[in-house]
Amino acid sequence: MGKQYYITTAIAYVNGEPHIGHAQEYILADVFARYRRLQKKDVYFLTGTDEYGLKNYQKAKAENLDAKAFVDRQARKFIDLQQNLSISYDRFIRTTDADHKRVCQWLWNKALKAGDLYEKEYEGLYCIGCEAFKMPDELENGKCPLHGKEPEKVKEKNWFFKLSKYAPEIAKRLKEKDLIIHPAHRTKETLNFLKKAEDISVSRSKERLSWGVEVPNDAGQVMYVWFDALTNYLTGARRNAAKESIAKEDFARWPVDLQVVGKDIFRFHTVIWQAMLISTGFDVSKNILIHGFINVNGQKMSKSTGNYIEAKEYIKKYGADALRYYILRYIPTTEDGDFSQIGFKQVYISDLGNDLGNLVQRTLSMIKSNKINVSGFLDHVPELPLWYTDKVEGFDFAGALGDIWKMVAEANTLINKDKPWELIKKDPQKAKATLGTVYKFIVDIAYLLRPFLPDSAHKIEEQLKTLSPQVIFPRI
Ligand code: MSP
Repeated sequence: MGKQYYITTAIAYVNGEPHIGHAQEYILADVFARYRRLQKKDVYFLTGTDEYGLKNYQKAKAENLDAKAFVDRQARKFIDLQQNLSISYDRFIRTTDADHKRVCQWLWNKALKAGDLYEKEYEGLYCIGCEAFKMPDELENGKCPLHGKEPEKVKEKNWFFKLSKYAPEIAKRLKEKDLIIHPAHRTKETLNFLKKAEDISVSRSKERLSWGVEVPNDAGQVMYVWFDALTNYLTGARRNAAKESIAKEDFARWPVDLQVVGKDIFRFHTVIWQAMLISTGFDVSKNILIHGFINVNGQKMSKSTGNYIEAKEYIKKYGADALRYYILRYIPTTEDGDFSQIGFKQVYISDLGNDLGNLVQRTLSMIKSNKINVSGFLDHVPELPLWYTDKVEGFDFAGALGDIWKMVAEANTLINKDKPWELIKKDPQKAKATLGTVYKFIVDIAYLLRPFLPDSAHKIEEQLKTLSPQVIFPRI
């Protein structure tokens, strides 16, 4: 069996509710997975939840729940979101899965054998929001700029990982393009960060936190949540996940072809994760796509400011594809973007209902009522044009959709100009030719939309066959 095309998302903490920021990441990865499948690639798509660590544990306690019961309940919400968004994942990994624990401990032992783990007494400032130690110069007025809270002082004996040892090697792999970071300017940021990379603590004392994967050579400690979380990408790379004993050859999907992560956690992926891989004898990741953040009405989304948008209401009201379309077309992939509630509705009505929905409806109704034979067009298998592959491979999803909508506009213009409903009486041959041309346009449009709006593309393709148009984007 050949190597699969392996694509991953970050795995979300389950202390909060799934929101449109999580949805964006799943959608971006899903478009690419579906695009590769359209190119007949054998794709394996991994996503999941990050369930250990202090942040999840504290939330469970705050709700008076056993940690496992809490993460079980919360993970379900993320699975539901993914399913409701038609995310075509192959595995939803949970870091509490039994095979993941085995891989973590196996990888830890490999790093230990490589001489890259050592014990040290450490004192530092720990931000629970980031699940990371912070250097004093990373704080603003003593607070974490991302979470607005003072980190807690921690003093304990931990296991450390020799991150600094691998900084030059990572820089070399970046220069040689073994690992490619998108967008390219994040490479420079990574290189700067590598220059000051220090060894990191990778375990916590069980007395403070027992909710984690046990360190195999030290029963008094659990792994630092990021050490276990990052390892999920290797757990998902094994073809024989159920096998208890682990060998390097099991990781047949490795190296990963594309990792999709948000801008707040990219260093964990471009630096720490790559060092862990090199230390344990694995290839570095091939591509890392760093996306921006979705803000709401110009503000960072947060529960405390009350502008927190869950995806489920939108999906329920407008359908998964409406949310997919809005995010893909109007939120830039690698920059921050704004989610506007008013804009969303307008886009739904104009782009989806009026432009695309109407085009399909009126064309197929006229073809049906005039009994025009279009069956020949269904044998035509559309190809992916260069403008499309260039844009999708460059993660310019908004650009690709913009060009597809130019095709939609062109088809609508042709109908409006020729008015086949009038022409059919005067010049039936010409009316048939116009409708045939538009029909073929729709065949192409539906095909190109498959990675972006899978459910609507499918509905359109079905209607093209049955010629019984049904409303795809109902008026709300
Ligand atoms: N558990 C870690 C990731 C571990 S990966 C081995 C984590 N979880 S998270 O729930 O905080 O974030 C999950 C993903 O959602 C991250 O890639 C993060 O950047 C992304 N987003 C969180 N809020 C976001 C927005 N407002 N907008 C877009 N993406 C955002 O970090």
